[in-house]
Amino acid sequence: MKISKTILNKLLKKAKESLKNSYSPYSQYRVAAAALAKSGKIYGGTNIENASYGLTMCAERCAIFKAISEGEKEILALYIIVSQDPKLPEATPCGACRQVIAEFARPDAPIYTLNLQDKKPPVMRMLKEYLPNAFTPKNLE
Ligand code: THU
Repeated sequence: MKISKTILNKLLKKAKESLKNSYSPYSQYRVAAAALAKSGKIYGGTNIENASYGLTMCAERCAIFKAISEGEKEILALYIIVSQDPKLPEATPCGACRQVIAEFARPDAPIYTLNLQDKKPPVMRMLKEYLPNAFTPKNLE
């Protein structure tokens, strides 16, 4: 699945807007995501932490759940951003988010990651690279 430069820029813009709303007082690790839905609409999300730490929601799932709850059926692409010391390891979606992405995106859906403090361009990997042999709704047909 090829995503145009224009759409990529829109995804980045949405993710940057969402990053301002990151609620991460415990980890200080601010994450935002923008999900491109099949309708063409873009949904932003941030991580939302909780005093009961385990209830924290990741940015990726926040964006996807917003899209699905608005009636979207498929996620075509995801753009994830952080703004962290570039010496830290590259930001990648956590295991739980990979499984949730696999529920709504095709294996070749592109997932972009970018550290705003890093001079490197965004990294693109397909969902199937992050989660090979995913267990998906197809397994239950
Ligand atoms: N976080 C995300 O939002 N996405 C990920 O894929 C990795 C982790 C958030 C959860 C928590 O608020 C903070 O980053 C540190 O784990």
